[in-house]
Amino acid sequence: MPENNTKAHQRIDSLRAQLHEHNHRYYILDQPEIPDAEYDRLLQELLALETDYPEYFDPNSPSQRVGSPVLDQFATVTHELPMLSLGNVFTEEEALAFDQRLKDRLDDEQEITYVCEPKLDGIAVSILYEKGRFARAATRGDGSQGEDISANVRTIPAVPLSLHNGWPERLEVRGEIFMPLAGFESYNKQALARGEKPFINPRNAAAGSLRQLDSKVTAQRPLDMYCYAIGVISGGPVLTSQFAALQYLASLGFKLNSEVERATGIHGCLAYYQRLQRRRADLGYEIDGVVYKVDDFERQRLLGSISRSPRWASAHKFPAQEEMTQLLAVEFQVGRTGAITPVARLEPVFVGGVTVSNATLHNMDEIERLDVRTGDTVIVRRAGDVIPQVVAVVESRRPAAAETIKPPGKCPVCGSPVSRDEGAAVYRCSGGLVCSAQRKESLKHFASRKAMDIDGLGDKLVEQLVERELVTTPADLYGLTVEQLASLDRMAEKSASNLSEAIQASKQTSLPRFLYALGIREVGEATALSLANEFADLDALLGASVERLEEINDIGPVVAHFVHEFFANPDNLQVIQSLQDAGVCWPTRQAELRSTQAAQPLAGQSVVLTGSLDTMTRDQAAQKLQNLGAKVVASVSGKTSFVVAGEKAGSKLVKAEALGITVLDEAGLLALLDREDS
Ligand code: IVH
Repeated sequence: MPENNTKAHQRIDSLRAQLHEHNHRYYILDQPEIPDAEYDRLLQELLALETDYPEYFDPNSPSQRVGSPVLDQFATVTHELPMLSLGNVFTEEEALAFDQRLKDRLDDEQEITYVCEPKLDGIAVSILYEKGRFARAATRGDGSQGEDISANVRTIPAVPLSLHNGWPERLEVRGEIFMPLAGFESYNKQALARGEKPFINPRNAAAGSLRQLDSKVTAQRPLDMYCYAIGVISGGPVLTSQFAALQYLASLGFKLNSEVERATGIHGCLAYYQRLQRRRADLGYEIDGVVYKVDDFERQRLLGSISRSPRWASAHKFPAQEEMTQLLAVEFQVGRTGAITPVARLEPVFVGGVTVSNATLHNMDEIERLDVRTGDTVIVRRAGDVIPQVVAVVESRRPAAAETIKPPGKCPVCGSPVSRDEGAAVYRCSGGLVCSAQRKESLKHFASRKAMDIDGLGDKLVEQLVERELVTTPADLYGLTVEQLASLDRMAEKSASNLSEAIQASKQTSLPRFLYALGIREVGEATALSLANEFADLDALLGASVERLEEINDIGPVVAHFVHEFFANPDNLQVIQSLQDAGVCWPTRQAELRSTQAAQPLAGQSVVLTGSLDTMTRDQAAQKLQNLGAKVVASVSGKTSFVVAGEKAGSKLVKAEALGITVLDEAGLLALLDREDS
């Protein structure tokens, strides 16, 4: 045997063994160890080798049987029609080639009408209805046999138990069960609080929830379902297209995905792909791509299937959100309030559309929970714009030299002792403003847009100012000269004088901004505003007791304690005094509120516009009302202040009258605008 062939044979055997093991972990144990993208790569490699070396064919190869063997505990269900899977394309070129293949086969160059759907990242199910009633639900399994999970599926609110009128004698509906993101996050939070293991991702959460032998457990899980196809049907209407089939399912009471659209030609599909990719993070559930399906059933029939997938459909995958890489080191970063956060330094990896080389590890508890060690192979996840996270360790790839990660014995930046708050996971540097990291971070916060809003004072400049010891506390910013600023790296004379002006301009601020800028622990914008509204001036706040602070709405004992502690610290009082001495000032809250109220007489009012107006468009009317501080909203509710009803006003007017809400006609609106404008 030539040496090449021996090598190929060995590789094929090794890939088969690995894939068998991953299948087992994924389908049977619900404990996948590697990301889907890595699994796909192994499978693709095997498929390619098997094509090149047909002599090594094996009917038991993982390439021949995608999916899971059936678990003993659930009854086995044989699908009357096999549950197929989808071919994939990853690029625009591959999508164009897919479309061209179909045109060639149909021997028709006309644009194909497709139905575009999100590719939901959950678990495929088949649900059988007999005489309009839920009869049985099954997993896809290996495509021909699945598991009977009726008891579990019955608990999912989105799954109808009896159908609306118009049901056929027998109907098998296919769709995807998934866990919406909000449910996934709240479930994981609770699991952590109970000391249980959280799920790695929503897909695992859905799989784990459906695999429960006790359906009472499933019933507690926030599962949802969308339908995407009909399997067996007898005695129903004649359906001629995917789109019509989906409408029919909706009419029977099934939940259809609102993103489903018909598209003309592959270019219509590609536009859909782009659109959905942009909206991916806002959908509220996970998708890993989109699916293009030939709409016309007759054409689907003509095109047929190859092995396990139909020719008439394809998934167009998004870049993977989870990838595998190596953890090179863990470094500790010190934040504004001294909190020490472990950050993973990674072998750079392309995930979620960008190259990632750092990921957060949150805190020491998280490191312990993951049992992550330096040198480990880890799974990194980057979804949307969320900070990349290490979500799991691939233990089987742990090198012998992997090292456990120890909590910092002292502050990694200033060497001050660290402490751990009672019952909390976070380690903290005790150095305060002695610590240059805390100084830098608190200055960045002080200068930020929602705080003192110092235009042009970015992170890099703050770091230089601290490193060159030009600035220690925020008050020092106001003593900086143009020459000092001009001496900084990459700082021209002109930008130095602009920055100096911006620093001076920031002195005129407001009390809420000033309080927020101080960087008191747990005091965000909203709390700063509550504090400013509660106390006549800063002195009154400085003198407030913990009990007095706790009386304020939205302020609990923890925040009250932090606020009190902050103002009890003489160093902080000194900084506040220096800021005021430097000229930082604000109008009294009363004056500030009076001036906004005068300019915005309709502030706090919610207005609905309906019908058409003679003297202006609805948009123009809305603009005028907004200029006076009103919020213009689309629908009438108990919270609506008044409704402006023009000609041909419809249901909104009816509803306003029913709720007893003030209604103005056009003359009334003009009179109001006139009065308030003057
Ligand atoms: S149609 C013949 N539509 O993707 C095609 N599948 O690899 C059968 N999936 O097992 C599937 N969203 O779990 C279809 N809108 C969608 C889908 C979808 C997700 C999953 C499904 C299936 C797998 C196919």
